[in-house]
Amino acid sequence: MNIKAILPENIRDLKPYVAGKTIDEVKNQYQLNTISKLASNENRLGCSPLVKDAVLEALKQIQDYPDPLAGKLRKALAKRNGVDDSEVLLAAGSESIISILCRTFFKNDENAVTANATFVGFFVQAGVRGVRLKKVPVTESYKFDTDAILQAIDDQTKMVYIANPNNPTGTYLNRDEYRKLVDGIPENVLLIADEAYYEYAKDTDDYLPALEHRRDNVIILRTFSKAYGLAGFRIGYAIAHPDLIREMMKTKLTFEPTAPAQAAALAALGDDDFLEKSLDLVKKGRDQLYTLFDDNGVTYEASISNSVMMILDSEKEAIDFTQGMLEKGVILRRINAFGLPECVRITIGTPAEMEHFKESFKQVYGSIRNH
Ligand SMILES: Cc1ncc(COP(=O)(O)O)c(C=O)c1O
Repeated sequence: MNIKAILPENIRDLKPYVAGKTIDEVKNQYQLNTISKLASNENRLGCSPLVKDAVLEALKQIQDYPDPLAGKLRKALAKRNGVDDSEVLLAAGSESIISILCRTFFKNDENAVTANATFVGFFVQAGVRGVRLKKVPVTESYKFDTDAILQAIDDQTKMVYIANPNNPTGTYLNRDEYRKLVDGIPENVLLIADEAYYEYAKDTDDYLPALEHRRDNVIILRTFSKAYGLAGFRIGYAIAHPDLIREMMKTKLTFEPTAPAQAAALAALGDDDFLEKSLDLVKKGRDQLYTLFDDNGVTYEASISNSVMMILDSEKEAIDFTQGMLEKGVILRRINAFGLPECVRITIGTPAEMEHFKESFKQVYGSIRNH
């Protein structure tokens, strides 16, 4: 069999996802007892204690297909966000919704405009659909360049994708920048406002959630994977005009998300105490990290999400730092795949994990800087 001859070119050109190392792999490889996994922007506190019972209850009916509309959860999310049920769609994570968007809206030869340093899931799903990406460089302060994005839109542009706050940079478009972007996008071009980190960002003074400046062509993405701590369940949602949601429903896999995932999300949504604890952990952890970095002359970007991006002098330094920290049991994420080879992303962890980071940092950072 000639696999190259079988495959369409756009699939051949895709690179397989390279997963970070698991906790067990690092434990075994470096003979360590304590591992701090600060690599994947997960919630290091876990998830709400209410989730377990809700999932056990859902398991009693695991032989049945789930509700394809996720009706109960959809209603709860609509109420919480002040929108109609018909404006909400649930799917197996916001990455699945990105895939739905690519399947639903692109005609042949249409393109998407985004940044060079943003969530790679969008690059991948666009690639699967064979969509040409027009990637605009981020600004010097690692933000989406709104003017350049608007200029890059042409007659063949179907979609603009931004993550606000952005991953991996943790930066965001402020009120004026976001308004300018939305208002400058033609009405037949869709703006995907990916708000995976919305919960962490929502109380920032000059952050404008897309829901507060709505347009019919804007599709908002949210997820239960981050602040709600349910990444393993795969569940996220979109909020958009009912006409858009109706079309997306046609291409969604009928029975995603699973029934236990729907039950988990509904329970998580009802636990504001856990959510507040998660947000508080991240806020305190970020401040500690800034202090450590300021004291040691490290360049970084201030973040309003659950991670902070360190900016090193070169790709080599980023490789050496990440490897040195791994050998101490601290798993971090190099973000070369996101277009920033000299940067390293640190997910905010529990106080014990942040202490582990700090102690390891003191040994590793000094040694890589001296070489
Ligand atoms: C900006 C952004 N969007 C979407 C996702 C994917 O989230 P989900 O787990 O809901 O697929 C991530 C995950 O890292 C992300 O950073």
